[in-house]
Amino acid sequence: MTERTAAARAHANIAFIKYWGNRDHELRLPMNPSLSMNLDGLYAETMVTWGDKLNADTLTLNGDTIYGEGLRRVSKHLDALRKRLGLRDFARVVSANNFPTGAGIASSAAAFAALSAAGVAAAGANVSERELTTFARLGSGSASRSVPTGFVEWHEGNSHETSYAESIAAPDYWGLVDVIAVISAAHKPVGSTAGHRSAETSDLQTARVAGAAERLAICKAAILSRNFVAFAEIVEHDSNLMHAVMMTSRPPLFYWLPPTLAIMALVRQWRADGLRVCYTLDAGANVHCICVREDADEVSRRLRTLSEVIDVRIAAPGTGASIINSSSVA
Ligand code: DP6
Repeated sequence: MTERTAAARAHANIAFIKYWGNRDHELRLPMNPSLSMNLDGLYAETMVTWGDKLNADTLTLNGDTIYGEGLRRVSKHLDALRKRLGLRDFARVVSANNFPTGAGIASSAAAFAALSAAGVAAAGANVSERELTTFARLGSGSASRSVPTGFVEWHEGNSHETSYAESIAAPDYWGLVDVIAVISAAHKPVGSTAGHRSAETSDLQTARVAGAAERLAICKAAILSRNFVAFAEIVEHDSNLMHAVMMTSRPPLFYWLPPTLAIMALVRQWRADGLRVCYTLDAGANVHCICVREDADEVSRRLRTLSEVIDVRIAAPGTGASIINSSSVA
């Protein structure tokens, strides 16, 4: 019996310029380029064992054996890795997240980045970071952005090879902090994969996509020049545009809950009062309050006084996917 094992850690990421809609759903070629920051402290750790005596792929997530759709999605991703790495073995996958799944903190990004990195390492394959981002993308689009370090741009591309992600700045380049107001830890009603398909049913998607490259250029320049005023404006605008598409899709997708809107209004008020904070939301009700490090404690303190906020998570810029000791994965 031959078994080959490796484990990897990858962080969640928060998009400043959003990925919403695919031109190719199978390959997850996005309609537009996107830009994000990895989130230190919010990660998935995944161990992959390729074994020639295994007779099926298996998945354990946070200690539970997973069957059904969860296992099918992982197995499909393992099929993609097998095809590209020339493997025949099934795999045993053991993974753990240290944050709630399906609540607007992109767990699939961390999960598929860690799965891809561990799968490739266990196979002993020599794969560049760029190629690894394309592998991760096949499992979950945003996972491509959890592979490189710090602040990351995902080029939309027009083929599997050209749709890849790369770092634009290291984690310590700018002391931004994501203060996440958790108002619902419930699993979201419609996941991103179904959401990407519904994006094209909104009349607003064409306009959103048309301006995405320009918004990305503005956001990238704001990050590289550490210009918070310009950054805040474009990040909120891009999030609003994505949610406008979601709300005008058929059937409509409303991820916001009443506290979501209340916190968005407060964040704008706090910024007008002088705190350097802005909001962005993924496919969930939680509000990611992006602020400069010096203002993070005050933002967090204010969020904690709100009765609707059930938890506040704080994440600084994180590193990319890395190989870890297999014995540390539960
Ligand atoms: C709203 O990467 O989770 O968070 O490719 O189907 O796994 P799949 O979708 P996913 O979509 C993320 C959507 C988003 C915006 C973003 O992270 O850019």
